[in-house]
Amino acid sequence: MLVNAKEMLDKALEGHYAVPHFNINNLEWTKAVLLACEEVKSPVILGVSEGAGKYMCGFETVTAMVKAMDKSLGITVPVALHLDHGSYDGCLACIKAGFTSIMFDGSHFGIEENVEKTKELVATAHKAGMSIEAEVGAIGGEEDGVVGMGECADPQECKKIADLGVDFLAAGIGNIHGIYPENWQGLSFETLAAIKAAIGENLPLVLHGGSGIPDDQIKKAISLGVSKINVNTELQLVFAKATREYIEAGSDKKGKGYDPRKLLKPGFDAIIEECKAKIALFGCANKA
Ligand code: G3H
Ligand code: ZN
Repeated sequence: MLVNAKEMLDKALEGHYAVPHFNINNLEWTKAVLLACEEVKSPVILGVSEGAGKYMCGFETVTAMVKAMDKSLGITVPVALHLDHGSYDGCLACIKAGFTSIMFDGSHFGIEENVEKTKELVATAHKAGMSIEAEVGAIGGEEDGVVGMGECADPQECKKIADLGVDFLAAGIGNIHGIYPENWQGLSFETLAAIKAAIGENLPLVLHGGSGIPDDQIKKAISLGVSKINVNTELQLVFAKATREYIEAGSDKKGKGYDPRKLLKPGFDAIIEECKAKIALFGCANKA
């Protein structure tokens, strides 16, 4: 069942767990994520970046694939189809394409421009019955070979965006995309508490860069109001490792091991196991 993400995140905030946002890249990825979530009865947010959308032949193709797969696999858990780190135009395209949720990432604009654009998109998304996430304070990560250490958002700027009626808010608390460097300082719980104090108790917060954060920090973040955690890199890592092992073991040369359905199976299974492990950590099993 495709739904917008507001209700599942409001419930998560109230129930002190987090809903997984898993990024998808292709048919196998989508199928693996959906089957894992159905097996453990977890609601899920399927994240689609603009790049992944383009790779999958456009947002319309993604919507058609997800809707058809949801039906043919007999998925009963709530599924939100969500644009990840969207531009203004990307958000409009996903509204048109039948996504159920969008993220407008205006964090690279000055706060006034971020407010202006977010405000417009909140009205447009809500009119279409969709949920909307916004971002304050850029999430660090690797860009052109330089690894940022993770910015901390300004709580007052968070309040300005929160007050626009967004359904959930991504705010930098030292988290970064991709693999965390060895000298990473960890999440800033001080910043998280200050943001919460500024925006109030009722708005679910989003933690980006969810790959590789130690379990105790994940649990503490959830206890302080994080209700959605984005995971992309870790799924890519387990997929690549399992595929590499299959090929290095020469399995692709045995029988019809070169058949793509066989070649992609170890990586597919690895995604399922990783999703289930994340769901257990986030406390989201049996919350559908
Ligand atoms: O928006 C996507 C995420 O924040 C994923 O981050 O690749 O570090 O898991 P990650
Ligand atoms: Zn992100």
